[in-house]
Amino acid sequence: MSWTPMPGSASTSARRRRPLGRSCWNGVAGKDAAIVTLTERIDEEFFAAAGPSLKVVANVAVGFDNIDLAAAARHGVTVTNTPGVLDGATADHTFALILALGRRIVEADRFIREGNQWVWGPRMFVGLDISAGATLGIIGLGRIGMAVARRARAFDMRVIATDATRPLGSTVEGVEIVSQEELLVSADVVSLHVPLLPSTRHLINREALAAMKPGAYLVNCARGGIVDEQALIEAIDSGHLRGAAIDTFEGEPHVNPELIARPQVVLTPHTASAGEATRDRMCRLAVDNVLAVLAGREPLTPVKTA
Ligand code: GLV
Repeated sequence: MSWTPMPGSASTSARRRRPLGRSCWNGVAGKDAAIVTLTERIDEEFFAAAGPSLKVVANVAVGFDNIDLAAAARHGVTVTNTPGVLDGATADHTFALILALGRRIVEADRFIREGNQWVWGPRMFVGLDISAGATLGIIGLGRIGMAVARRARAFDMRVIATDATRPLGSTVEGVEIVSQEELLVSADVVSLHVPLLPSTRHLINREALAAMKPGAYLVNCARGGIVDEQALIEAIDSGHLRGAAIDTFEGEPHVNPELIARPQVVLTPHTASAGEATRDRMCRLAVDNVLAVLAGREPLTPVKTA
């Protein structure tokens, strides 16, 4: 039995040195297991390069849009992910972005660092009154969405959410379940917590952005492909949206320079789950999944492939 982490998985500096490419699949030939990260595209070509020995691909991420599940099923390979262990860290980061956006922390920090002269004034860097009646709209009330909701409730926000599994009009832990239409027109901050699927690609498109409350903010700690980035930039430039916080990008790791150029946009490099212990737990869970499969047991957190 043998398994190796995918080359290039270990560090961002390694990724910077060597562009991601098919050549890195050479190392997987003949292996029993592969531990991969969300930057690796695990597709037919990967499974062909691995050959018939491969039994399990363990993604060090809860999202698995980087893996072709149908190809995994065709090759009889088990796929696992890391749900549950990163909810708190991801929700912490999401809420940090909500606070940073609403209270313009990054803009204000930049203002000071640039050496601008200033005296205190009552309208200086005014922003969203988060705990004085602001409404948070959560698209996707799964584990992470719910963890964000709990933080928002602790800040006295009104919280509304879309959730396919709960009836419209119901309330769960103080969160009102509403339609997406109602959420977009009502929320001061819209935060995305759905997986990237064909049905959620560009869920936040030009129409959805136009439907948002004027002056609202968008936060995306889910997957870049859920938002039409060009349409988002236009919505910010027109003044319809006041700002956005983005942790995940459409062309990741490339970041659209137009986003970088806009001071109303807060950017982090897909680090929402980057708590030290959380990342350890994610890696540990991936390893435990591999060990379980190679020992002939059920994996702890399998992804349904067929
Ligand atoms: C991170 O984005 C993850 O899916 O775990």
